[in-house]
Amino acid sequence: MATSTLLGWFLFSASASAACTRDFLVGATNKYVAAQAAGSSSDIAALAAPNVTYTENEIPKAINEGVLTEAIKIDHNRSIHDTVNCATFTEIIAASNPHQYVIGTRILFNNDSKISLIESIVTDAGDWAFNATGYLYWNSQENWDPIPEDKRDSREVIQAAGDAYFDRFKNENVTVPFGVPCSRLEGGASTAPLNMTGDSCTLAGLPSTLVVTNRRYVVDEVLGVVDIYLGFPGLDRTQGQKPMPDSHMFRVESGKIRYIHTVSSCVEAGCGFNSTIPPTSRIRRLRSFERPRLSMRGY
Ligand SMILES: *[C@@H]1O[C@H](CO)[C@@H](O)[C@H](O)[C@H]1NC(C)=O
Ligand SMILES: *[C@@H]1O[C@H](CO)[C@@H](O)[C@H](O)[C@H]1NC(C)=O
Ligand SMILES: *[C@@H]1O[C@H](CO)[C@@H](O)[C@H](O)[C@H]1NC(C)=O
Ligand SMILES: *[C@@H]1O[C@H](CO)[C@@H](O)[C@H](O)[C@H]1NC(C)=O
Ligand SMILES: *[C@@H]1O[C@H](CO)[C@@H](O)[C@H](O)[C@H]1NC(C)=O
Ligand SMILES: *[C@@H]1O[C@H](CO)[C@@H](O)[C@H](O)[C@H]1NC(C)=O
Ligand SMILES: *[C@@H]1O[C@H](CO)[C@@H](O)[C@H](O)[C@H]1NC(C)=O
Repeated sequence: MATSTLLGWFLFSASASAACTRDFLVGATNKYVAAQAAGSSSDIAALAAPNVTYTENEIPKAINEGVLTEAIKIDHNRSIHDTVNCATFTEIIAASNPHQYVIGTRILFNNDSKISLIESIVTDAGDWAFNATGYLYWNSQENWDPIPEDKRDSREVIQAAGDAYFDRFKNENVTVPFGVPCSRLEGGASTAPLNMTGDSCTLAGLPSTLVVTNRRYVVDEVLGVVDIYLGFPGLDRTQGQKPMPDSHMFRVESGKIRYIHTVSSCVEAGCGFNSTIPPTSRIRRLRSFERPRLSMRGY
């Protein structure tokens, strides 16, 4: 091997070991989804750094004590891959599993390509507007295909669209770039029926005093998606204004939001909305400010 080639090889391998490639991240999320389907938590533990942090709904656990030990029949999975933050987010919908779940999982990797953090929001019956059948159905109506290369937004534009959504909660002057059509899917309830061809994302009666805390981002320019983990204050009435674990995934096209998928867990089943609400009216457990639009459906 010529010296110049050898030098080139060293330079390449030095940068390759530090780089976080899309292929690497795609391989990792494939392994994660396969491990969840098989209930093989040890397959994920094997990819993790010795001091990995693993949480479910922000409660620390051992990987081998969590939901990854359960074999789950997965009806749908979608992952996004962020080569800059070396992070991924995966959405899992299990509607035909005996125990229905919708799971959101954010994974971070260190410079040794080991998992340093896994935070899952694991939702099931009793969580925010939970309906895995509805989640699966509404998701199937949407298009999340890769954005053609010449139409891709920058990661800044994609992230700004998601940030605007949350900034609006504390400032009525923020304009959120909702596209047409736009719909929001929460737990399994979609705003789409409010206007199948238009914007059903715009919220009526929104507060302007709510500070959404601790935002954590995964951005994928290829899919035009940002997922934001955050603390949502007041989501669970039994917890006062304590920020609750929440994931919002935004599909952005030409700078405009087309779809929002949320995964939000309650501490108490029903998030403190009384059990006097009949189960058929589960959708009423929506945040009070998100209810006005949905109530137009007559639920
Ligand atoms: C995850 O989704 C991909 C793409 O739709 C699919 O090919 C794969 O089989 C799914 N994995 C599991 C475990 O369901
Ligand atoms: C885990 O270990 C690595 C390498 O020793 C260190 O850099 C990192 O700060 C540790 N992380 C935590 C959360 O303790
Ligand atoms: C990886 O290394 C780069 C360059 O040394 C550093 O800036 C970055 O913070 C490191 N990332 C992690 C996750 O430790
Ligand atoms: C869940 O969603 C499905 C599909 O949209 C719907 O038929 C069903 O009525 C929903 N269940 C509840 C309890 O809202
Ligand atoms: C929003 O705009 C109005 C009119 O310009 C202004 O009075 C108000 O202070 C602004 N609110 C915030 C939170 O910036
Ligand atoms: C639905 O959205 C379309 C397109 O934006 C709009 O023209 C129409 O007025 C909307 N319909 C309702 C009932 O809001
Ligand atoms: C739930 O019911 C209890 C007892 O009737 C009442 O004190 C509480 O305010 C109710 N909470 C909500 C969120 O409606």
